[in-house]
Amino acid sequence: MDLTLDFPKVKAIVESYTEKVDSLIESYAGNKEQLISLLQDIQAEFNYLPQDVLVKISQKLDIPLSQVFSVVTFFRAFTLKPRGRHLVTVCLGTACHVKGGQRMVDKMERDYGIKPGETTEDMRFSLETVNCLGCCALGPVVVVDGKYESKMNPDKLDRVLRGYK
Ligand code: FES
Repeated sequence: MDLTLDFPKVKAIVESYTEKVDSLIESYAGNKEQLISLLQDIQAEFNYLPQDVLVKISQKLDIPLSQVFSVVTFFRAFTLKPRGRHLVTVCLGTACHVKGGQRMVDKMERDYGIKPGETTEDMRFSLETVNCLGCCALGPVVVVDGKYESKMNPDKLDRVLRGYK
């Protein structure tokens, strides 16, 4: 395996990351009341909230870091863990569970090597479970990047996921 680092490439990645973060923070122009919206924008850009970015937000918006973290940990939608490009949510509420929801979780572990709360090594998928999405008649339900897929089975899940690169 070639472990040589391509420094110009790494430098370019770091610079574009910094530029994106700075421009997102600047777009809120010191408006502390917009902290949640800013965090949503950052997460939409990176799929999670990098800790160094939270420190930067705290400094630029002059909000105590403890306050930034308490907002992040309060809302379940925010995550501090790196997430894959696509979020797969399997419903394991009673109705979906009875109809075989667990088979989707087993499939993800068997074929993609991830359990709930984990991300594939290639950062393609992250997996999470929920307890009812409010559409039990359509179960088992799986949501991929916000798109609801109904009456799922492991083969159908395979076909659906093939569309997410
Ligand atoms: S139990 Fe899955 S949608 Fe209700």
